[in-house]
Amino acid sequence: MLCCPLRTRPRILSRPAHVAPLALILLATACSDDGQERRRSLGETPTFADVMRVADAERGGRLFGQCAACHTISPGAGDRNGPGLYDVLGKPVASNSRRYGYTGALRSLGGTWTPERMDLWLSAPAKLAPGTSMSFRGLPDPLDRADLIAYLRTQSSGGAEAHPSRP
Ligand code: HEC
Repeated sequence: MLCCPLRTRPRILSRPAHVAPLALILLATACSDDGQERRRSLGETPTFADVMRVADAERGGRLFGQCAACHTISPGAGDRNGPGLYDVLGKPVASNSRRYGYTGALRSLGGTWTPERMDLWLSAPAKLAPGTSMSFRGLPDPLDRADLIAYLRTQSSGGAEAHPSRP
């Protein structure tokens, strides 16, 4: 108060001090995205296309941790307990690894790995192909599956242009 020439300056300087904590909170929320906000935006009964539209490949990459015990995802990385998954989307079912010994259950399924098919598979492998050796219970959450599919799409020969667009 006594220091008139400086009166306006502290006011300007004090502004970032108010803004910074808010920005940090927003940033923290964005970084720890567990999908809550996207889930809310989707409403009660979203279609597969709706969910894919908000899919987050980066989060899908983190979810791939659940698959990594049995699957590799880089070019030429080979098979583990399960076949290598690099570039699997768009391929005929049970064909992604030439050396892998697929079960008859998966081979007899036919068709190709479209995103829709992958969604069914990942929700319950044993339901889509009874007798499959993929002993993985499945992902009940449609958003988890969509994020994973978006990630699989980036891990492909057409990866760069296949990056999902997020609003
Ligand atoms: C416990 C091991 C295990 C886990 C965990 C697992 N898988 Fe598999 N996966 C397999 C096996 C084994 C097969 C071969 C199935 C067969 O031949 O019946 C397979 C097959 C597949 C195929 C078919 C590939 C092709 O060439 O047609 C896809 C796609 C796939 N898994 C995706 C996933 C994804 C994505 C996850 C994570 C959400 C996952 N898997 C988790 C073991 C696993």
